[in-house]
Amino acid sequence: MARVLSTGALLALLNFATPGLGAAHVSNCRYIPGDKGWPSQSDWAKLNRTVGGRLIATVPQAHVCHAGGPGVNQAACDALKDPLVFEKTAPAYVNKPAEIINAYWQNRSCDPFSKTSRPCVLGNYPVYSINVSGAHDAIAGLDFARRQNIRLSIQNTGHDYNGRSAGFGSLSLWMHNLQGIEVIPRYRSRAYSGPAVKLGAGVHAGVALQYLGQRGYRLVTGECGTVGVAGGYSMGGGHGPLNGAYGMASDNVLEWEVVTGDGRHIVATPEKNSDIYWAMSGGGGGSYGVALSMTARIYRDGPVLGPVLTFTAPDVGNETYWGAVDAFLKRLPGMLRGTSSSIQFSFWNNQFGALFVMPDERNSSAADAKLAPLLRDLDAIGIPYDLTVSQSETFLDYYSSWYGPLPFGYEPPSTTLNSRLVPVRVAQDDQARRQLIDAMRLTTQTGEFTVGCSAADVGSVRHPDNAVLPAWRKSVAICNVNAFWNWTAPLEQNLEVKRRMVDVYSPAWDAATPGSGVYLNEIDPWYRSDFKVNMFGSNYRRLLSIKHKYDPYHLFYGHNLVGSDDFSIDGAGRLCYSSGR
Ligand SMILES: Cc1cc2nc3c(=O)[nH]c(=O)nc-3n(C[C@H](O)[C@H](O)[C@H](O)COP(=O)(O)OP(=O)(O)OC[C@H]3O[C@@H](n4cnc5c(N)ncnc54)[C@H](O)[C@@H]3O)c2cc1C
Ligand SMILES: *[C@@H]1O[C@H](CO)[C@@H](O)[C@H](O)[C@H]1NC(C)=O
Ligand SMILES: *[C@@H]1O[C@H](CO)[C@@H](O)[C@H](O)[C@H]1NC(C)=O
Ligand SMILES: *[C@@H]1O[C@H](CO)[C@@H](O)[C@H](O)[C@H]1NC(C)=O
Ligand SMILES: *[C@@H]1O[C@H](CO)[C@@H](O)[C@H](O)[C@H]1NC(C)=O
Ligand SMILES: *[C@@H]1O[C@H](CO)[C@@H](O)[C@H](O)[C@H]1NC(C)=O
Ligand SMILES: *[C@@H]1O[C@H](CO)[C@@H](O)[C@H](O)[C@H]1NC(C)=O
Repeated sequence: MARVLSTGALLALLNFATPGLGAAHVSNCRYIPGDKGWPSQSDWAKLNRTVGGRLIATVPQAHVCHAGGPGVNQAACDALKDPLVFEKTAPAYVNKPAEIINAYWQNRSCDPFSKTSRPCVLGNYPVYSINVSGAHDAIAGLDFARRQNIRLSIQNTGHDYNGRSAGFGSLSLWMHNLQGIEVIPRYRSRAYSGPAVKLGAGVHAGVALQYLGQRGYRLVTGECGTVGVAGGYSMGGGHGPLNGAYGMASDNVLEWEVVTGDGRHIVATPEKNSDIYWAMSGGGGGSYGVALSMTARIYRDGPVLGPVLTFTAPDVGNETYWGAVDAFLKRLPGMLRGTSSSIQFSFWNNQFGALFVMPDERNSSAADAKLAPLLRDLDAIGIPYDLTVSQSETFLDYYSSWYGPLPFGYEPPSTTLNSRLVPVRVAQDDQARRQLIDAMRLTTQTGEFTVGCSAADVGSVRHPDNAVLPAWRKSVAICNVNAFWNWTAPLEQNLEVKRRMVDVYSPAWDAATPGSGVYLNEIDPWYRSDFKVNMFGSNYRRLLSIKHKYDPYHLFYGHNLVGSDDFSIDGAGRLCYSSGR
């Protein structure tokens, strides 16, 4: 274990390793450490008393890997370097205040892979976090940030690909410890009667699925157990293996319990405070308020059929192989339309795999029936394939076997990734589909990138009116192109990969899917196209006016979120507000 350090020693190590910040300030910029206006030690102590001693000065986990401070602890450092055993490292990152798991935003400030001689600096890490235990703590943090003119951030699990869960010089509201889970067997509202769950803002997907599964229920979550449910995921749309049955995660929200930017603690439903309910259900996390809990529909668990289809080619650029991918895409809308099935599929330049989810099916002949037209196509094309059908008694069993071990499972901690929604119309039209196949071939040709897609018909599922990007309802799948981040390679090498993605591959996908969109939670920070059009579509103006109503002091900011272009970052890293730009 690391030696016990005084807070003062750590602050000296962490804050002042960033040289020469200067004291200049413009009044519309938030203060950063080193500015004259930055809160004094006694201001922080007073805040700490207001929140009952729950204020935490940031100490990145990997400080044990860096000299120049209190000392290196090699064993503790090595334990943090196990990126491929995320189950093991997850608690070290996703359950800790201020941690940023995305490598680009972590920015080598204090990571376990860079040289021991590099100093550990805060960079994009918040400077302090409040260990939020309820509305009072969130209100105190919002109030302090507003009065002291400092940047605010909200962190749940720290997964965000756009660094939105952290922020240079910020005070963070750390939501992780809101871990309540309460099943409401008979929830009743005008729109819905049936079982529901009230989830604290910090509950991880894998934890919720286990808790609910053991009680005979299931819930819409993503494919990674460490992602939160009531944070950025359900506020941004939320895709996963149950989308075909129950719609997007946002579609399942019945209530948000929220502290607004002006410090009011309210409940938002389709009937009460319906504008912020609408906005928070799909319009992006960290924009309209601080969620304390979310109440969502749950469903009786039951059997799941899981056909798995794979095919490969011996060589790269094989026309037979790409003909088979084309046939799959063409059949995709028909396999999904009006059904409760979803399909997760991923492919590379010569390997393809699709994992189906058929909820409430037990009889494997249902899988044969669904796949028959596609298999006929594959036979005609002449590609050998493999089909196996797994049968699970419950969704919990299914999820555990494919995405477990629960609660956290396995997931690479960082990737370079960009999404695109694939319209049904593109999958159905031979010429349009050919252009998409060309983009797929281009992306995967060198073997650096794979493509991973989540397919479901979320247009036919009944859902409340909400801010999920409308393009989603006309899509057959969301596809992510992704490459592994190499933590031990020079930063520039990773940035080259990112540049290829945003300058070459993503534009090809965008051109093949005109008028569609991207997923605000799965988008590269360097994405070149208009974020408003592509992430929010026709909802943008309404979302902006709701944001202005609930965030009158402009406390909520995140890269490429609603209203973010009213802010800029100055040369020293300060977040500056300038309305009406
Ligand atoms: C390994 C990995 C796997 C993923 N798998 C999927 C998937 O299968 N399906 C899918 O749809 N997405 C997936 N995502 C994307 C995921 O949905 C986003 O990263 C999402 O933003 C994570 O939300 P979080 O609350 O867990 O994390 P954070 O990064 O902590 O928060 C994300 C955003 O929400 C805000 N926020 C968090 N909590 C609150 C709160 N209580 N109140 C207000 N704002 C809040 C934050 O400020 C930030 O803007 C994955 C991401 C990763 C890295
Ligand atoms: C806040 O107060 C608690 C309890 O007194 C203390 O343990 C903690 O170190 C304080 N936080 C900071 C940042 O000083
Ligand atoms: C990473 O740090 C460098 C040097 O401090 C800075 O110029 C750059 O903007 C940072 N990048 C991000 C994504 O924060
Ligand atoms: C945060 O608060 C919880 C209680 O709500 C406590 O168990 C936990 O130790 C605190 N975490 C830190 C890092 O202070
Ligand atoms: C392409 O793949 C098919 C199917 O696996 C295989 O039969 C064929 O030989 C491959 N073509 C070449 C040129 O390798
Ligand atoms: C499975 O479905 C087929 C075709 O509908 C039917 O003939 C068969 O009896 C079913 N098997 C079971 C075990 O229900
Ligand atoms: C990561 O980059 C380093 C340095 O360029 C290289 O030696 C290593 O093989 C790379 N790792 C992977 C998995 O590609």
